[in-house]
Amino acid sequence: MSDLSSVQNVQDQAKGDLEKIHNPQELEAFRIAYLGKKGKLSLLMERIKELSGEAKKDYGKAVNDLKRLIESSLSELKGKQTSGPAQTGSIPYDPTLPPLRPRQGSIHPITQTIQEISKLFVRLGFETVQGPEIETEYHNFTALNIPLDHPSRDAFDTFYVDDGRLLRSQTSTVQIRIMQSRKPPLSIIAPGRVYRPDAVDASHSFMFHQIEGLMVDQETTFGDLKGILKLFLRELFGSKTAVRFRPHYFPFTEPSVEVDIRWGKGWLEILGAGCVHPNVFKAVGYSTQKIKGFAFGLGVERMAMIRHGIPDIRLFYENDLRFLRQFS
Ligand code: DAH
Repeated sequence: MSDLSSVQNVQDQAKGDLEKIHNPQELEAFRIAYLGKKGKLSLLMERIKELSGEAKKDYGKAVNDLKRLIESSLSELKGKQTSGPAQTGSIPYDPTLPPLRPRQGSIHPITQTIQEISKLFVRLGFETVQGPEIETEYHNFTALNIPLDHPSRDAFDTFYVDDGRLLRSQTSTVQIRIMQSRKPPLSIIAPGRVYRPDAVDASHSFMFHQIEGLMVDQETTFGDLKGILKLFLRELFGSKTAVRFRPHYFPFTEPSVEVDIRWGKGWLEILGAGCVHPNVFKAVGYSTQKIKGFAFGLGVERMAMIRHGIPDIRLFYENDLRFLRQFS
């Protein structure tokens, strides 16, 4: 047999063998048989040294061409085996399996907490409303019975915008907006961002979220407030959670309380609340004789941190997927 026809012979064999490959094991066996150290191609190459001149050149080229052909057929087969439908053999192709999907995003834990709390209040008959983040001094302070000389009006505690407006420092602004635009009875909650020029640390951020609540009707009592907040906190933190109402001061409510829940061995302050101050009703043109109401405000980050044991508020804002994926 001439040298060139022995190359042709191996090529014909390879063609036949390639057609018989059905799985990765057979593919590997083929690779070793042809391209391995003692494979058929090595044998053909050994002959090169024994040839000379034109014959060596022609033979060498034929062997090299065949090597390349086999290599490219192999890599093509490999591609088919790993990419699915054409595959046969040991791992059967199952067309009923769901497709591989790209990883989907998920709702941010702060939004999840807002949605969960909103859902609870919607079940109690509250409506979710929103107000602007850039506010007037009137809505953020004056109408809420916060006196002109109150320290929170200071530039150190509020971000002011050039035109005299400000970034709201509390969602209580929405109480005013909603009462100005509607008549009682009202039951609303208002989730949203608030801003304060606080130094950022594990428990402070210059921006965070609050949920404001307001219920106004002819006969709304402090007892209603207690009942609703207890119900809400027990839904959120567990049905046996102890709830404590502690006297406090807020300018826009009278009487005012801070509300704590029993957590471990201690008490955790969880929200502020009270009966709407008559001056607030006056500011929005409601009758202080006929109308009563209560309000409350809570910090969303704080709620989420307590519930999930999150140690640092900054985790919410860093977009670190290792953190966020725990809430998907
Ligand atoms: N606005 C208060 C704050 O940011 C929270 C608050 C306390 C809201 C008592 C209320 C309330 O509606 O009645 O600290």
